[in-house]
Order: sequence, then structure tokens, then C-alpha cells
Amino acid sequence: MNLFPRAEVPAHVESLIGREIFRFDTVESTNDTAKELLGDRAREGTVIVAERQVSGRGRHGRAWASPPGGLYCSIVLTPDPRHVQLLNLVSGMPVVKALRHWSVLATLKWPNDVVFRDRKIGGILCEGVHRHDTFYVVAGIGVNTNVPLDRLPAEAGGGATSLKAETGTEVSNDEFLEYMLREYEKVYKASQSGARNVLARDYMALCTTIRQRVEVATPEGKVRGTAIEVTPLGALVLVDDSGVRTEVADGSVTPLRE
Ligand code: BTN
Repeated sequence: MNLFPRAEVPAHVESLIGREIFRFDTVESTNDTAKELLGDRAREGTVIVAERQVSGRGRHGRAWASPPGGLYCSIVLTPDPRHVQLLNLVSGMPVVKALRHWSVLATLKWPNDVVFRDRKIGGILCEGVHRHDTFYVVAGIGVNTNVPLDRLPAEAGGGATSLKAETGTEVSNDEFLEYMLREYEKVYKASQSGARNVLARDYMALCTTIRQRVEVATPEGKVRGTAIEVTPLGALVLVDDSGVRTEVADGSVTPLRE
């Protein structure tokens, strides 16, 4: 790990998110680096960015391929613990917005997979940490911006893609990050305010899981039904054939093609 990262103060000095950015060449995982720096060095809004990760982590204990070319960052947050589940969901929205700005019409798969034509192009790993009497969330974001397809895993369910593979052009990771952080600031503030109903509605507009028949593998078992909405607390609501309504807090969604 580079122990002496360059700390930058961005042009948008009034911004909370990205008020300070630590850049590294190589880390194990930007989430782990953020956790090491929590407190005096990494306050709310601090962002850790790396050119590559050697042990990038995904949801449910999976690995996240992190070769050079991709965007790997973690944002330090101190949210109200009651709104963490919604924050976890809406953390994918800034990635979708930025990809759309660069001409890739990405969508979200609940809870926060960023996909383009059924292929994964970005992902979110939010982790809660208690440190020095403060509750932090480290929101890790990985985006396959300029990653060649042969460096991405051929996962089950369609595999992965990158912005470069879809558009044929490279994007500046710095410009992409700046755009995405400005969008993140909007969703973060909304998730901590009284605007959570509106935010959940905006999330649903970007999420293709809504109105689909799905099976969700949860820690408590599998649930099937039609996904009808996301609550302002961030749960996915399923209705089965008998009209029974179930709220699911976390899990992996598989669309049912019956
Ligand atoms: C997923 O979809 O499974 C989540 C992927 C999250 C990857 C990002 S890359 C930056 C941050 N550091 C990590 O180790 N993971 C997240």
C-alpha cells in the first residue's frame, strides 16, 4: 500500500462528498483502506480511489475483479443508521447516472447491481463500521470503465461488460468520478432527509427488477413473486400468486422466465 497518498481538495469546495480524495496506485481493497483511515484522516465525505485492487471484494463474499482501467473507490459516510438500507440501494443510482452521461443506458438490478443488457458493469459494497463512538458506512463502488472484456469474469447470468467495450471509447476515470460523486451527494442528502419517498420512486424508475417475476435467495431462504415496489426503507416488496406480500431486506435476485 502506498502510505503517502496524495490528498486532493476538489474544485467544488462546498461539496461534502469528495471534499478530500486520497489516491492510491494499488490497494488490497479501497473499502479496507477507508476503514484503516477512519477518524481523523478519513471523515464523512472522504473518498479513497485506487488504480487497481489486489483483493477487491464484492457482495456475499464474492471477489471483484479490479484490473487497471476500472474505477475503484470508497466513500466514507456517517448516515443515520435507520436509513442505511435505503442508502445501500440508492448508492447504485449515481453509477447509472454517470454511465448514462457517457452514453451507456445502464439500469439497476435490486438491490444495487449496475447492469447493461443483462451484463454487470458496476457494483456496490456498503459496509457498516463502528469506530470511536461513531457509526460509519463505507460505500465501495466499482465500475468497469476502461477494463478490457478479457480481464472480466464470465459470471453466471450473462457475465460482465465495460463502458469501453460498449462504446468503443475510453473515458477519463477522473471525470467519471467527479460526475458520479456530484450525483452521489444528491442521493446521500436525499436519503438522510424527508425526501426518501421521492428517492425510492426515483430508484424504482431505474430498477428493472420492479414488475418482474423473480426468485430472491435470502439468508432465510428463497422467496418467489412479482416485485411490485421498493419501500422508503429500502426493502423489496414481492407479491406471490396467492396475493401474499413479503418484504425482503437483502438477497440475490433471479428473474423467472416461466
Ligand atoms: C458487487 O457487485 O458484488 C459489489 C462490488 C463492489 C466493488 C467495489 S470496488 C471498490 C470497493 N472495494 C472493494 O473491495 N469492493 C468495492
